[in-house]
Amino acid sequence: MSIELLYLDGEFMPLSEGLIPVEDRGLQLGDGVYEVVKIMNGRLVWLEEHLERLDRSLAAVKMTGAVAGHRLERVLPELAARSGIDEGMAYIQVTRGAAPREFEFPQPSRPTVLAYARSRPAPAVDAIRAGVMLHPVEDLRWARCDIKATDLLAAVLAKEDARSAGAQEALFVAPDGTVREGGSSNVFAVLGEVLRTHPADNRVLAGITRRHVLEMAREAGYAVEERAFTLAEVTLASDRDCEVFLASTLKDIMPVVRVGTDLIGGGRPGRVTLALLDVLRRQQALLVGLEPPAALTRWAPGR
Ligand code: PDD
Repeated sequence: MSIELLYLDGEFMPLSEGLIPVEDRGLQLGDGVYEVVKIMNGRLVWLEEHLERLDRSLAAVKMTGAVAGHRLERVLPELAARSGIDEGMAYIQVTRGAAPREFEFPQPSRPTVLAYARSRPAPAVDAIRAGVMLHPVEDLRWARCDIKATDLLAAVLAKEDARSAGAQEALFVAPDGTVREGGSSNVFAVLGEVLRTHPADNRVLAGITRRHVLEMAREAGYAVEERAFTLAEVTLASDRDCEVFLASTLKDIMPVVRVGTDLIGGGRPGRVTLALLDVLRRQQALLVGLEPPAALTRWAPGR
């Protein structure tokens, strides 16, 4: 038995019982930051790195120390354990708290700290085999996408456009054609034997999955460059020369088989993509004390 359990300002309760004041600045101003952590075998994957990034986001929005009293490194494993969730996610959010609606910071401010655990299956092998379609949209977001901020309206609109177009993810593209990232994921391409992704600057989120993908790929001996590629580079590449995939906490590594109307890799997941996903799945299984899953690469013959 598992329940959706909430930790709100120091107390545990069923998620449905959590109440937030109407004037919480997260609600009225999008004045907050968040994290999403994968739960696997009841354990939190790469928790330390997520908490480090949360600290960086908090510092960037001048909320340094907002979670210091909460001991999240202990609370979150307890949340996962008490929820009984085997496979799912933990969502953590810190806002600048409730105060009469003014743009400037309340003095003093009392941050709202919450986290909840929810069941959610990891991507199924069939879904990985099918791959996903991306829907390119102009990147209209602000210039601090390195902060994992709760103000996600641009991503909400982009992902809804993608859904309407029959795609599973939006692809944020700069006016000059530079591919930045997905609506809620980083994007990689294998172009001419080189694995490339946008540098971790202010235009993209420095994904935790992204970091592990880069590390795994370097260790496996692939040529890797944190150098942006353009939409034209992937859509005009011949099938043999191009692979595209997404990387995120909730998607792991997800093959991309179509971008807009263009097929990628002949519409099938690429060899490098699946090889990296196999390493990722093995590493995560090891981390949470599970048997390594069967390799995926065997069903991509000849590519
Ligand atoms: N999103 N880029 C954006 C814009 C994201 O929102 C995310 C994650 C990523 C990937 O980061 P990571 O590998 O650390 O999950 C990249 C989370 C999962 C979400 O908002 O649901």
